[in-house]
Amino acid sequence: TGMTTLDPGFGNTASCSSKITYIDGAAGILRYRGYPIQDLAVGSSFLEVAYLVIYGELPEPGQLKEFSDKLRENADIPDDMGTFIDAMPRNGHPMSLVASAVNTLAAYYDDSVDPDDENQVELATIRLMAKLPTIAARIYRNSIGEQPIAPDPSLDYVENFTRMTFGDARPDGELGELFGKAVDLLLILHADHELNCSTATVRVVGSSQADIFASIASGVNALSGPSHGGANQAVLEMLDEIRDSGVSIEDFLERVKNREVRLMGFGHRVYKNFDPRSKEIKGLATQILDRDDNPDELFELALKLEAAALADSYFTERKLYPNVDFYTGVIYRAMGFPTNMFTVLFALGRLPGWIAHYREQLHDPAFRIARPRQHYIGANERRYPGQG
Ligand code: CMC
Repeated sequence: TGMTTLDPGFGNTASCSSKITYIDGAAGILRYRGYPIQDLAVGSSFLEVAYLVIYGELPEPGQLKEFSDKLRENADIPDDMGTFIDAMPRNGHPMSLVASAVNTLAAYYDDSVDPDDENQVELATIRLMAKLPTIAARIYRNSIGEQPIAPDPSLDYVENFTRMTFGDARPDGELGELFGKAVDLLLILHADHELNCSTATVRVVGSSQADIFASIASGVNALSGPSHGGANQAVLEMLDEIRDSGVSIEDFLERVKNREVRLMGFGHRVYKNFDPRSKEIKGLATQILDRDDNPDELFELALKLEAAALADSYFTERKLYPNVDFYTGVIYRAMGFPTNMFTVLFALGRLPGWIAHYREQLHDPAFRIARPRQHYIGANERRYPGQG
C-alpha cells in the first residue's frame, strides 16, 4: 500500500500528457488537435482527419494526395495472409478475426516493427491504415460466403472499403452517395477519443516497446467489449430484444433501474452531458432513416427509448446521456452491415487515434513502461501445510 492511491478504472489518474484530443465532458466539447469535431464533420474527409490526428496538422492538398496515394499503393495484403484469413472460422466474431489478422502484420512485415526507427514506424502507419479496410472487408465477405474483392487503386479510401465489402450490391446514385458520406462521417466521429480503454491499452502495450502492430491488435481486442466499442452491437441487440419480446419501454427501463440490465448506448466516463458525437449521429440517422414515409422500426424505438430515459430521474441524476454508440447501429444496419460488423467499423475509425497515441508516446520525454501499483488485500503470511 504505502503512498499509492487506489483509483479503480483510472477514473482520476492521468497517465500521460497529450496534444491529440481535447474533451470537456461537462460542456460536451470534443476537439482533435484543437479543431472542433463539428467543424471537421462538415469540412473534412476521414482521410484528412486521419492525417490531422496522426501528424498534427491538416494536410495541404499535396500532402493529402501523397498520403492517399501511399494508402492506395499499400492496400493489398500478401497472398499468404489472405489464405490465413480465409482459414479462420468464417462464422467467428469478426472482431476476433480482425485482431488476429492485425497481430500477424508484424510477422508479414517484420521490416516495420522497430519502435526506435522512425522510418519503420511511418511505414507501419501506412500499412495499418492501408490494409485494415482490406482485412475487414475480406473477413466480412468470408462470413457471408462470398469471394473477396481486391482493393481498387482508382477509388478513394472509404469508397474502396464499401466496394470491397458490398461489391456490386453497393447502392449507387443518390443513395450510394448518401451512404458513402455517412460512413465517412461516422469514421471521422470515431477517429480519436483520448485515453478510452482501447487507446489506453495501445499505450500500455506500446510502453513495453512492443511493436505497433502488436499494440494495435491489443487495442482491437480492448475495443471488442460491450462496455466499449462492442456497445454499438449491444444497442442493436437490445433494440431487437425489446421489439421481439414486446416488453414496454417503461418495463424495460424498470429492469435497467433494478440493475438487471444496462441501458446500452447510454452513459460515459467523461461526458456528463450530451456526447457531441451522438448529436451528429442522430442527425445522420434522421437523414438516412427518414428518407421516405416508411420509418425504420428500430430507429423509432431508439428515439422513444432515448426520450423516456431522458425524462426519468434515474438517468438525469446520474447524468446518463446517449453516447456515440446509441444511434450508430441503426445506421449501419440500414446500410446493410450485419450486427457483428458494427464494432469493426468503429475500429476502422479509431485506427488513426491508436496510431497517433502510439507514436506520440514514443517521443514523450516522460516515456516509461506502464506499471500501475495495487493495494494488496490478500492473506498475511501463512504456514505452508506440513511445515511443522
Ligand atoms: N445503464 C444504467 N445505469 C448506468 C449506465 C447504463 N448504461 N451507465 C452507468 N450507469 C449507472 C451505474 O450503475 C452507476 O449507478 P450508481 O452510482 O447508482 O451505482 C452510475 O450510473 C455511474 O456508472 P459507472 O459504472 O460508475 O460509470 P463508468 O464511468 O464506470 O462507466 C460506461 C461508463 C460507459 C462503461 C457505462 O456508462 C456503461 O456501461 N454504459 C453502457 C455501455 C455503453 O454504452 N458503452 C459505450 C461507451 S461510449 C463509447 C465507447 O467507448 O464505445
